[in-house]
Amino acid sequence: MYLYRKGSITGPRFKVPFTGPFIQALHPKFESYLAQWASGPLSCVSVFHKFVVLASDRDLAHKVFKSPTYTEPCIVPLAKDILGHKAWVFLQGKTHAEYRRGLTPLFTNKAMATYLPAQEKVFADYFDKFVATSQANANQPLPFMTLFREINCALSCRTFFGDYISPAAVKKIADDYYQATAALELVNVPFSIYIPFTKPWRGKRTADAVHAEFAKCAAACKRNMATGAAPTCIVDHWVRHMFESNRYRERVAAGETDVEKPSNLIREFTDVEISETLFTFLFASQDASSSATTWLFQILAQRHDVLDKLREENLAARGGDRNRPFDLPMLESLTYTAAVVKELLRYRPPVIFVPYLATKAFPITPDYTVPKGAMVIPSCYPALHDPKVYPNPDTFDPDRWITGDAESKTKNWLVFGAGAHDCLARRYVPLTMAAMIGKAALELNWKHVATDKSEEIRVFATLFPMDGAQLVFEKRP
Ligand code: HEM
Repeated sequence: MYLYRKGSITGPRFKVPFTGPFIQALHPKFESYLAQWASGPLSCVSVFHKFVVLASDRDLAHKVFKSPTYTEPCIVPLAKDILGHKAWVFLQGKTHAEYRRGLTPLFTNKAMATYLPAQEKVFADYFDKFVATSQANANQPLPFMTLFREINCALSCRTFFGDYISPAAVKKIADDYYQATAALELVNVPFSIYIPFTKPWRGKRTADAVHAEFAKCAAACKRNMATGAAPTCIVDHWVRHMFESNRYRERVAAGETDVEKPSNLIREFTDVEISETLFTFLFASQDASSSATTWLFQILAQRHDVLDKLREENLAARGGDRNRPFDLPMLESLTYTAAVVKELLRYRPPVIFVPYLATKAFPITPDYTVPKGAMVIPSCYPALHDPKVYPNPDTFDPDRWITGDAESKTKNWLVFGAGAHDCLARRYVPLTMAAMIGKAALELNWKHVATDKSEEIRVFATLFPMDGAQLVFEKRP
């Protein structure tokens, strides 16, 4: 069966009966992915009963992302228990597109401008924590990956729910959330959620607690927005759109004519639905954002030339006053900082591939048809490291976005996927990261103490340095 499915594409000549390369699947190595991609534009592997086709070629990756008649995103079954069985990300086709249309306005730059004050406060609190953590460790290096996960979790909670969520709840979620990721072992094989003290069991408990907290916040938001308050977080905007839509429908139903249609006409969502949806944002964001943050701080500590220029640009944008809070026009004006963030996302793309499922036999090339039920995985990494498109792809070079032609290579920019399910936050992420690193550059000094594992890549849902980023932070004089 394996050989029949494999057909003409590259892949092992035989499969170990039943399990296949199970051990590799449990402990994926980045180098194994590189080797798999290098083996051909389409290659395959089979683990247990699953037949998996990897598309390393850029155009084939686009084809998988953009063939909704044949493919849909595929997450491990446990994801439904963690995210909620009715969560919108599991919708397909028109119902998915419609749900998504109602969420898109929450990520425009205009909406983002209202989230920035809350984000600035999270950065300030965590930068103090970075310094205090280093001081408590006698300014010796520590793996900061865990704190980078925390800052991103806090950032998401505050951006999503503003002050509706208590500092204690943010802290608890930030402390516990990684268990939800560990439970899924996204790139691996999950175990049962029912066995106490296993990763999936812990993950499910964490997810349930977060869902409950988020639903409470949704209710508080509805009460506050009913008073006509100005929106300051994502859920405020969403609930305001619901209220505006309700009012519109009532007026039309009452027979009024000439009623202006709201720009985002949506139905009303329950507190539980709001909680589930915002949980999908947290889930989608957490690992990818933490990965990007970790590499950003590690790489800038190594590249003083880049950090100096970024500092200079951020100070100038604040008119020489390094304590001036950021705002949207300022963030949009930071050309060099934006180039640094883009280069980081290209050089160390947090998401190296996205698993899809072939919902029917999928003729991906004239010579090969992915069998129905197989996983088909469009890869993002090879397109972002193609030497013909990004010369010296393994060099971190922000200037390629300013003086080079990287900006024009839009087809290779697969950092955020492509097609109907591409990342909802593809504009939000670069702006938020620019805000974080700009403020950090002005307020902090940090140094990286390299180990022999610093450049080794660990795959934990996304990419991380194997040693967890050994850093020391201090306040800038
Ligand atoms: C460095 C940060 C991030 C990266 C690299 C990233 C990347 C991605 C990728 C590759 C996908 C799959 C795209 C596809 O299947 O075509 C995705 C989906 C998604 N992302 Fe992101 N993401 C990031 C941060 C975020 C954040 C901060 C949020 C929300 C606040 C978010 C929300 C989503 C959602 C909701 C989806 C699923 C969309 C759908 O199914 O329609 N992401 N992201």
